[in-house]
Amino acid sequence: MNTALHRVDAHAKVTGTLRYGADRAPDGLAHAVFAVATIGKGRVVSVDTGAADKIPGVQLVITRIDPSELGSPGFIMGGGYGFQSLQPLTSDRIAYRGLPIAMVVADTLLAATEAAGMITAAYEPEQVAATIDADGAETVVQSQAIPIPMLADTAVGDADAAFAAAPVQVDLEIYGPAQHQVPMELISSVAEWRGDTLVVHEGTQNSGAIQNGVAQQLGIDPERVQVISPSVGGGFGQKNSLQPHIGPLAIAARRLGRPVKLVLTRPQTFHQASFRPTSRQRVRLGADASGRLLAAIHEIDQQTSRHDLFPALYTEVSSRLYGISDFRGLQRLVRTDVQSPGYMRAPFEHISVFAMESAVDEIAYATGQDPVAIRLANDSRKDPVTGLPFSSRYVAECLRRGAQRFGWADRTPEPRSMRDADGTLIGWGVAIGTYPGNAIPAIAKLSADTAGTVSVAVSGHEMGQGIRTAITRLVADDLGIDPAAVQVSVGDTRHVPQHLTAGSWGTAGALPAVHAALLELRTRLCLPQTGPVDLRAAVAATGAPRIEAEATTTAQGQPAEVVDRLRKGLVAIAGPEYPEFVTFSYIAHFAEVRVEPTTCRIRVPRVVSVVDCGRVASPVTAASQVRGGVIWGIGAALREQSLVDTRYGGFLNSTMEEYPIAVNADIHQIDVDFIDEPDPMLNPIGVKGLGEVAMVGVSAAIGNAVFHATGTRFRRLPIHIEDVLASL
Ligand code: MOS
Repeated sequence: MNTALHRVDAHAKVTGTLRYGADRAPDGLAHAVFAVATIGKGRVVSVDTGAADKIPGVQLVITRIDPSELGSPGFIMGGGYGFQSLQPLTSDRIAYRGLPIAMVVADTLLAATEAAGMITAAYEPEQVAATIDADGAETVVQSQAIPIPMLADTAVGDADAAFAAAPVQVDLEIYGPAQHQVPMELISSVAEWRGDTLVVHEGTQNSGAIQNGVAQQLGIDPERVQVISPSVGGGFGQKNSLQPHIGPLAIAARRLGRPVKLVLTRPQTFHQASFRPTSRQRVRLGADASGRLLAAIHEIDQQTSRHDLFPALYTEVSSRLYGISDFRGLQRLVRTDVQSPGYMRAPFEHISVFAMESAVDEIAYATGQDPVAIRLANDSRKDPVTGLPFSSRYVAECLRRGAQRFGWADRTPEPRSMRDADGTLIGWGVAIGTYPGNAIPAIAKLSADTAGTVSVAVSGHEMGQGIRTAITRLVADDLGIDPAAVQVSVGDTRHVPQHLTAGSWGTAGALPAVHAALLELRTRLCLPQTGPVDLRAAVAATGAPRIEAEATTTAQGQPAEVVDRLRKGLVAIAGPEYPEFVTFSYIAHFAEVRVEPTTCRIRVPRVVSVVDCGRVASPVTAASQVRGGVIWGIGAALREQSLVDTRYGGFLNSTMEEYPIAVNADIHQIDVDFIDEPDPMLNPIGVKGLGEVAMVGVSAAIGNAVFHATGTRFRRLPIHIEDVLASL
């Protein structure tokens, strides 16, 4: 076992030699820059490109593309490929502030940027409703507007009656702000035509959607589109689909006969790509006097755009945290004048669990129970929604081990009871998190040669989570070879079809396919099914220079036809409910907060997080994922929100100066541990998802710690200094 195997791309990362999608700089490269709408909603009457055309080096200014030349990509959650169905530049509608009105292509980035800044437009503005509370925002009930079973509200038993009869009741309203993913790597692509084949280099989580989506938009065969995404500088859901700049970029490259590169500016990534939508939740939780949870009613309003219904999935997890026998969910969508929102790491789970775990904390105080003990007492071995067994569930072990590592036994329960000599209030909070164990079909191709090298190509994308390292480790350990002899290709449609990598199913999707291909390779080489091998000798014995093997895996219960969806770049997810069992990943977070007595500044000196993600496929990158998730949670609890000027629409603080994410000074001790018990049912490798569950429950643990420190329950994230000051 190469237990010490570090991140395989670590050296390339720190030396700056790792190749990201849009690092490609072919000869003759031209640069594209968007000019964007400066009204919140309405119609563009005319675009004046006169001044832009005169800038030296400007080659092309596109203000309108006929829909017959560039169709809609479709909405990714509506059977399409785009983060939204709306394709900019194909009509005069201004659906939201920041929508592109022109694309300038020039010989240099400087010329394109200068020219784009000179483009002006005449508009017919309309009243904008960019927030869920605005006049003109329109609310629909999700189960009626999108009547498909996967999106149905969770309902079991008679929650209203059980809540009404419960001796202890909590009723909490929680507000979650809009947030943006702000990955370090900006959304960026290079589009080039090689003959009649379009080649797209882009940092993406979904090269298959780009391949098939842009082919559909341009009316060409997907075989004539290649998408290459060797590594992504952070995706977090924002890069999960076809971005609307790809079509115009491909058209510009074709018209000019040159490769064209586009890098959205940071403010443009706040307006031309997805974001975490605003949500408002009401949780009613009923318990008996001992703290046994009897009933939950969880109602959600979630922001969406006018043109797409971005489906909410909050109750899928809130109903599974505990063994609550009577549960009723209600999810509503609020149409507003924004680009379509989308997935942002633990998209629903983070804020849904913040609401539920805040309510559970309230029940603990109302019943005089210890917050860890009440959680242990309400654990369940079987899924309360379907009655099926959980394939594995070690959340109680996460709690017990976390409490031990944190030193929870030393906590005094009374709010405001723990403080430093200087009056600093100390709060200790706990929360659990869960994330669905989704699974996908995947294809892996292996090739072993007489030099002993194994090349792997598999459906999956490297977003920094360490999928290459996990695959390398699996292959090297399985065959007993040096990890340096393993080469991994991911995110490349030239080698194998690519499915969206998201929802924590990346490693859990790729590894079973690679494992199946390894078995096939062993069969072809007449080797035993397990154990270290002499690969060089085995390949040489065949007389061929290299031996290839391929395998396709699907999730439990998936029909074989899902592989067609994979080949078409469509979403083909299974889970968390499978025919025989239900799978979730789990985590327990323990947080200490310190509230400085005069400024009320909140710091988080330490967090302990213990995870049940099934088998840990790559310890180094797994621990990094969890620390990253905790940092995201600290940002979500105390820092991040995308602000709107309701008069004008758009997002105000669309730069990294004004959208404060957690920085080094905000981060102190993060202690991570894993249960590392293989899941016996989900796949032969025993891995569940990890990357997303990492942040679920962090904000709740911090919120609960802030309550313990201050005695105030803050119902709105992020919790700011001024909120704490106002509560004193
Ligand atoms: Mo994740 S938000 O599903 O990329």
